[in-house]
Amino acid sequence: MSLAVCPGSFDPLTLGHVDVVRRARSMFDEVVVGIARNSAKSPLLAAEHRVALAREAFAADPGVRVEVVPGLLADFVREVGAVAVVKGLRGGADFDGELPMALMNRHLTGVETVFVVGDPALAHIASSLVKDVARFAGPIDDLVPPGVADAVRAAWAARA
Ligand code: PNS
Repeated sequence: MSLAVCPGSFDPLTLGHVDVVRRARSMFDEVVVGIARNSAKSPLLAAEHRVALAREAFAADPGVRVEVVPGLLADFVREVGAVAVVKGLRGGADFDGELPMALMNRHLTGVETVFVVGDPALAHIASSLVKDVARFAGPIDDLVPPGVADAVRAAWAARA
Protein backbone atom coordinates (compact mmCIF):
# COMPACT_ATOMS: atom_id res chain seq x y z
CA MET A 1 0.00 0.00 0.00
CA SER A 2 1.40 3.43 -0.94
CA LEU A 3 1.05 6.30 1.48
CA ALA A 4 1.88 9.98 0.91
CA VAL A 5 1.97 12.96 3.24
CA CYS A 6 0.51 16.32 2.16
CA PRO A 7 2.11 18.71 4.66
CA GLY A 8 1.37 22.37 5.20
CA SER A 9 0.36 25.06 7.62
CA PHE A 10 -3.24 24.97 6.37
CA ASP A 11 -3.87 28.26 8.18
CA PRO A 12 -6.56 28.05 6.97
CA LEU A 13 -7.32 25.08 4.71
CA THR A 14 -8.46 26.37 1.29
CA LEU A 15 -10.22 24.88 -1.73
CA GLY A 16 -6.79 24.87 -3.39
CA HIS A 17 -5.45 22.57 -0.66
CA VAL A 18 -8.49 20.29 -0.96
CA ASP A 19 -7.90 20.02 -4.73
CA VAL A 20 -4.22 19.08 -4.22
CA VAL A 21 -5.01 16.49 -1.51
CA ARG A 22 -7.61 14.84 -3.75
CA ARG A 23 -5.15 14.77 -6.67
CA ALA A 24 -2.60 13.17 -4.34
CA ARG A 25 -5.19 10.60 -3.28
CA SER A 26 -5.72 9.69 -6.94
CA MET A 27 -2.04 8.65 -7.06
CA PHE A 28 -1.58 7.03 -3.62
CA ASP A 29 -3.68 4.52 -1.67
CA GLU A 30 -3.64 6.67 1.42
CA VAL A 31 -2.91 10.35 2.05
CA VAL A 32 -2.09 11.85 5.42
CA VAL A 33 -2.74 15.59 5.60
CA GLY A 34 -0.01 16.79 7.98
CA ILE A 35 -0.76 19.98 9.88
CA ALA A 36 2.76 21.28 10.50
CA ARG A 37 4.53 24.24 12.03
CA ASN A 38 6.18 26.68 9.64
CA SER A 39 8.83 28.53 11.67
CA ALA A 40 8.49 31.54 9.37
CA LYS A 41 4.78 31.98 10.13
CA SER A 42 2.69 32.81 13.17
CA PRO A 43 -0.64 30.96 12.77
CA LEU A 44 -4.05 32.58 13.16
CA LEU A 45 -5.76 29.27 14.02
CA ALA A 46 -4.48 26.82 16.65
CA ALA A 47 -3.14 23.54 15.28
CA GLU A 48 -5.95 21.49 16.87
CA HIS A 49 -8.52 23.80 15.32
CA ARG A 50 -6.88 23.42 11.89
CA VAL A 51 -6.96 19.64 12.37
CA ALA A 52 -10.67 19.69 13.25
CA LEU A 53 -11.52 21.82 10.21
CA ALA A 54 -9.49 19.60 7.89
CA ARG A 55 -11.06 16.42 9.32
CA GLU A 56 -14.48 17.90 8.61
CA ALA A 57 -13.46 18.86 5.06
CA PHE A 58 -12.16 15.34 4.26
CA ALA A 59 -14.77 13.39 6.24
CA ALA A 60 -16.26 11.94 3.04
CA ASP A 61 -12.87 11.20 1.39
CA PRO A 62 -11.89 7.57 1.96
CA GLY A 63 -8.15 7.10 2.32
CA VAL A 64 -7.52 10.64 3.57
CA ARG A 65 -6.71 11.26 7.22
CA VAL A 66 -5.51 14.33 9.08
CA GLU A 67 -2.75 14.41 11.71
CA VAL A 68 -0.61 16.98 13.50
CA VAL A 69 3.06 16.96 12.54
CA PRO A 70 4.54 17.53 16.00
CA GLY A 71 8.05 18.49 14.89
CA LEU A 72 10.24 17.76 11.92
CA LEU A 73 8.34 16.69 8.80
CA ALA A 74 11.12 14.21 7.98
CA ASP A 75 10.52 12.38 11.30
CA PHE A 76 6.76 12.31 10.69
CA VAL A 77 7.22 10.95 7.17
CA ARG A 78 9.35 8.12 8.58
CA GLU A 79 6.89 7.41 11.42
CA VAL A 80 3.85 7.04 9.15
CA GLY A 81 5.80 5.09 6.51
CA ALA A 82 5.17 7.51 3.65
CA VAL A 83 6.80 6.87 0.28
CA ALA A 84 6.36 10.50 -0.82
CA VAL A 85 5.60 14.04 0.22
CA VAL A 86 3.09 15.76 -2.07
CA LYS A 87 2.91 19.53 -2.48
CA GLY A 88 0.83 21.68 -4.82
CA LEU A 89 2.25 24.27 -7.18
CA ARG A 90 0.38 27.35 -8.38
CA GLY A 91 3.35 28.87 -10.17
CA GLY A 92 7.07 29.51 -10.19
CA ALA A 93 7.13 31.33 -6.87
CA ASP A 94 5.69 28.25 -5.17
CA PHE A 95 8.38 26.10 -6.78
CA ASP A 96 11.14 28.44 -5.59
CA GLY A 97 9.86 28.10 -2.04
CA GLU A 98 9.29 24.36 -2.22
CA LEU A 99 12.56 23.28 -3.85
CA PRO A 100 14.84 23.83 -0.82
CA MET A 101 12.35 22.00 1.43
CA ALA A 102 12.09 19.08 -1.00
CA LEU A 103 15.88 18.82 -1.15
CA MET A 104 16.23 19.04 2.63
CA ASN A 105 13.53 16.43 3.25
CA ARG A 106 15.21 14.05 0.77
CA HIS A 107 18.56 14.69 2.44
CA LEU A 108 17.04 13.84 5.85
CA THR A 109 14.93 10.82 4.87
CA GLY A 110 15.53 9.84 1.25
CA VAL A 111 11.84 10.45 0.63
CA GLU A 112 10.90 12.09 -2.67
CA THR A 113 8.63 15.13 -3.00
CA VAL A 114 6.04 14.95 -5.78
CA PHE A 115 4.72 18.25 -7.09
CA VAL A 116 1.12 18.41 -8.21
CA VAL A 117 -0.23 21.21 -10.39
CA GLY A 118 -3.57 22.27 -9.01
CA ASP A 119 -6.70 23.47 -10.79
CA PRO A 120 -5.84 26.83 -12.43
CA ALA A 121 -9.31 28.06 -11.45
CA LEU A 122 -8.08 27.95 -7.84
CA ALA A 123 -4.59 29.40 -8.45
CA HIS A 124 -5.51 32.78 -6.95
CA ILE A 125 -6.28 31.22 -3.57
CA ALA A 126 -3.61 31.45 -0.87
CA SER A 127 -4.15 31.09 2.87
CA SER A 128 -2.38 34.40 3.49
CA LEU A 129 -4.75 36.23 1.10
CA VAL A 130 -7.81 34.47 2.55
CA LYS A 131 -6.81 35.70 6.02
CA ASP A 132 -6.19 39.22 4.77
CA VAL A 133 -9.50 39.44 2.91
CA ALA A 134 -11.36 38.16 5.98
CA ARG A 135 -9.49 40.50 8.29
CA PHE A 136 -10.98 43.47 6.46
CA ALA A 137 -14.47 41.92 6.23
CA GLY A 138 -14.21 40.71 2.63
CA PRO A 139 -16.01 37.58 1.41
CA ILE A 140 -14.06 34.30 1.67
CA ASP A 141 -16.88 31.71 1.67
CA ASP A 142 -16.18 30.61 -1.92
CA LEU A 143 -12.45 30.19 -1.25
CA VAL A 144 -12.53 27.68 1.61
CA PRO A 145 -14.45 24.53 2.63
CA PRO A 146 -17.66 24.94 4.66
CA GLY A 147 -16.96 25.89 8.27
CA VAL A 148 -13.55 27.39 7.59
CA ALA A 149 -14.78 30.90 6.73
CA ASP A 150 -16.65 31.23 10.03
CA ALA A 151 -13.59 29.96 11.92
CA VAL A 152 -11.32 32.56 10.29
CA ARG A 153 -13.77 35.38 10.92
CA ALA A 154 -14.17 34.32 14.55
CA ALA A 155 -10.40 34.17 15.02
CA TRP A 156 -10.02 37.75 13.77
CA ALA A 157 -12.95 38.92 15.89
CA ALA A 158 -11.31 37.36 18.96
CA ARG A 159 -8.13 39.34 18.24
CA ALA A 160 -9.92 42.67 17.76
O1 PNS B 1 1.97 25.54 4.02
P1 PNS B 1 3.43 25.86 4.24
O2 PNS B 1 3.58 26.85 5.37
O3 PNS B 1 4.12 26.33 2.98
O4 PNS B 1 4.11 24.49 4.64
C1 PNS B 1 5.47 24.45 5.07
C2 PNS B 1 5.66 23.30 6.06
C3 PNS B 1 4.77 23.51 7.26
C4 PNS B 1 5.31 22.00 5.37
C5 PNS B 1 7.15 23.28 6.50
O5 PNS B 1 7.47 24.49 7.14
C6 PNS B 1 7.47 22.09 7.41
O6 PNS B 1 7.71 21.01 6.91
N1 PNS B 1 7.42 22.30 8.76
C7 PNS B 1 7.69 21.27 9.73
C8 PNS B 1 9.09 21.45 10.35
C9 PNS B 1 10.15 21.01 9.34
O7 PNS B 1 10.26 19.85 9.02
N2 PNS B 1 10.95 21.99 8.87
C10 PNS B 1 11.98 21.73 7.88
C11 PNS B 1 11.39 21.72 6.49
S1 PNS B 1 12.59 21.25 5.26
